[in-house]
Amino acid sequence: MLKAVPGTNDIFAQAREYPFREPVFRYITQTAEEVLRGAGAQMIHTPIFEYLEVLQKGVGLTSDIVVKKEMYVLEDRGGRVLGLRPEPTASIVRAYNEHGMKVWSQPVRLFTWGPIFRAERQQKGRYKQFHQVDYEALGLADPLLDAEAIALMVRIYKTLGLKNLEVKLGSVGDPEDRLRYNEYLRELFRPHAEKLSEDSRVRLEANPMRILDSKSEIDQQIVADLQVKPMLAFLGEASRAFHEKVCYYLERLGISFSVDPSIVRGLDYYVRTAWEVHHAQIGAKSALGGGGRYDGLSEMLGGPRVPGVGFGIGIERVAIALEQEGIAIPPDPSPTLYLAPLDEPAQIEALALAESLRPKVSVEIGYTPKSPRKALEDALKKGACYVGFLGEGERARGVITLKHLESGEQKELEPLQLHSLFEGPDPK
Ligand code: HAM
Repeated sequence: MLKAVPGTNDIFAQAREYPFREPVFRYITQTAEEVLRGAGAQMIHTPIFEYLEVLQKGVGLTSDIVVKKEMYVLEDRGGRVLGLRPEPTASIVRAYNEHGMKVWSQPVRLFTWGPIFRAERQQKGRYKQFHQVDYEALGLADPLLDAEAIALMVRIYKTLGLKNLEVKLGSVGDPEDRLRYNEYLRELFRPHAEKLSEDSRVRLEANPMRILDSKSEIDQQIVADLQVKPMLAFLGEASRAFHEKVCYYLERLGISFSVDPSIVRGLDYYVRTAWEVHHAQIGAKSALGGGGRYDGLSEMLGGPRVPGVGFGIGIERVAIALEQEGIAIPPDPSPTLYLAPLDEPAQIEALALAESLRPKVSVEIGYTPKSPRKALEDALKKGACYVGFLGEGERARGVITLKHLESGEQKELEPLQLHSLFEGPDPK
């Protein structure tokens, strides 16, 4: 029997593991959609594959996604090289430019949700195909948009019922600030290059900031021993003022956050604001989401200058957090009426009657003719409120036998009577 690729998951109501239960998934996406639409953002769906160039230039050549070859690369029949999206931001910026959204009233605020692909080693909370809710505000470089993005992200988590949240805010500065910081880091780490992990040795020249957020204990020890100054200490005047504005706005909005000078983020496109939201109870992979500003991304994709800020929320991680906090998800409604054909001619009658009652009443039918006892068992399994029997006797009398499952009360009703029974509020 063929199986799914490890690190990919089927999402359906009865899935054994909580993060892959479809009602949980839907609860998260619907809540996010309500919050974001309520804030005036518009939904966009971009393709899950793009020319590799868009995706590579998007995340940056020194990002883990490119360096560690985490991108799924495909070739189409014309020999063009494509990739499965490892994040949606670059695609959304590409779409903004391609559809001339720069002439719309700015900022343009877009959101999406869907599958994301990264060839990472699988563990709890880390998958090869996972899902994100993503929000982007494009076309205006104002710290108010950064504060709003953080506020919206936090509101999504809170509306879902999550409590143990930690918002960590940092700034990765302007590109000039980062040049100075990277030079400082290189000089600091070079004498210790031999002791660094292999990954960090590669990062030393390409993107030394990533050493700071290395998972290797040895690297962490070196970072601690060297008493590395944080990026925040290297901010220029403009990026410092911007960062302070974001902090002030968040305080005004009453959003709890801590300034975390060590926030680095794994993608190259960030400038100035960068943040992550963590959850104490979901284990090592504790980031429920992250975001930041990326004012140079559009130009990297060959477009005009389009400042932007946004965030991505890991849907499966949020589901794990919901489970940890014991937050109950509204269950899917079960059918009100289960209509059981008792013989072959009743099959189409059951379907026609079901269709005439739907969607006012949620009706499921028994498809294959079966005995009343078996039909009753099925109706109970489905959690129905009523079971209706249609057989030869019912046909002769022009009625349906309707049984209320809880009280056991049973009566014969003509189709019109059945309709009027369900006319008022759902009898459930
Ligand atoms: P990111 O931090 O790479 O940011 O991903 C956002 C979130 O996706 C993470 O915080 C985590 O919850 C989830 N995530 C990442 N990798 C995995 C994985 N392998 N398995 C399960 N969940 C995962 C971005 O992707 C940026 N595009 C966010 C952004 C939007 N920045 C600006 N706009």
